[in-house]
Amino acid sequence: MNQDELKQLVGETAAKYVENNTVVGLGTGSTVKYLVDALGRRVADEGLSIVGVPTSDRTADQARALGITIKDVDDVDHIDLTIDGADQIDKNFQGIKGGGAAHLWEKIVAINSDKNMWIVDESKMADELGSFPLPLEVIPYGSTQLLKRLEAKGYHPEFRMKDGQHVLTDSKNYVIDLHMGHIDHPHELAKDLDSMTGIVEHGLFLDLVNTVIVGHEDGPEILEAR
Ligand code: 5RP
Repeated sequence: MNQDELKQLVGETAAKYVENNTVVGLGTGSTVKYLVDALGRRVADEGLSIVGVPTSDRTADQARALGITIKDVDDVDHIDLTIDGADQIDKNFQGIKGGGAAHLWEKIVAINSDKNMWIVDESKMADELGSFPLPLEVIPYGSTQLLKRLEAKGYHPEFRMKDGQHVLTDSKNYVIDLHMGHIDHPHELAKDLDSMTGIVEHGLFLDLVNTVIVGHEDGPEILEAR
């Protein structure tokens, strides 16, 4: 199986965990795309009744087109389960997200969810975090000065660009990726980034996930994190 087939495997496996009459946070990315496709099929074929809370405009568009009822995070009183992808997960179930520039909305939905599930192909599992660059969503105003402050701290920041333009998040902010190589103390780093003016949110998702589904050649592996 190639990486894309492993993503499809975990997306379709996760869709089976969604129960009738629940509110489901819908993550963002190429793995979640398979999840949303599978949920769309369950809605059409089984009459599954769910409300989806999307974490990006992309996911909202896909879900709506498949007939899944969508509500804004501020229009639901709770979220039962959020299912999302991840860019890297370490052995303590700490994660990096934001490769798709959606981590601000993803974190808002995650922290307002009763349970969180991540779905990944096996290449995302690592002993430690940091070989995947850590995304920051930052306010455009003053972002070049912020980049210098991050450089001075030795965090190896780079603006995320596409075709010579800043990549914009759904909230119209910029993204800075930190190329740190390895992150020895994720909680300390998170605390430092939380304290820096101009950073709206970082992609460290710590102590958040309950269940991880990992796609392997021989089938999905279900890991209970906490
Ligand atoms: C988007 C994310 C995604 O969940 C993460 O990048 C994984 O994406 P993919 O499933 O395409 O590998 O955090 O901001």
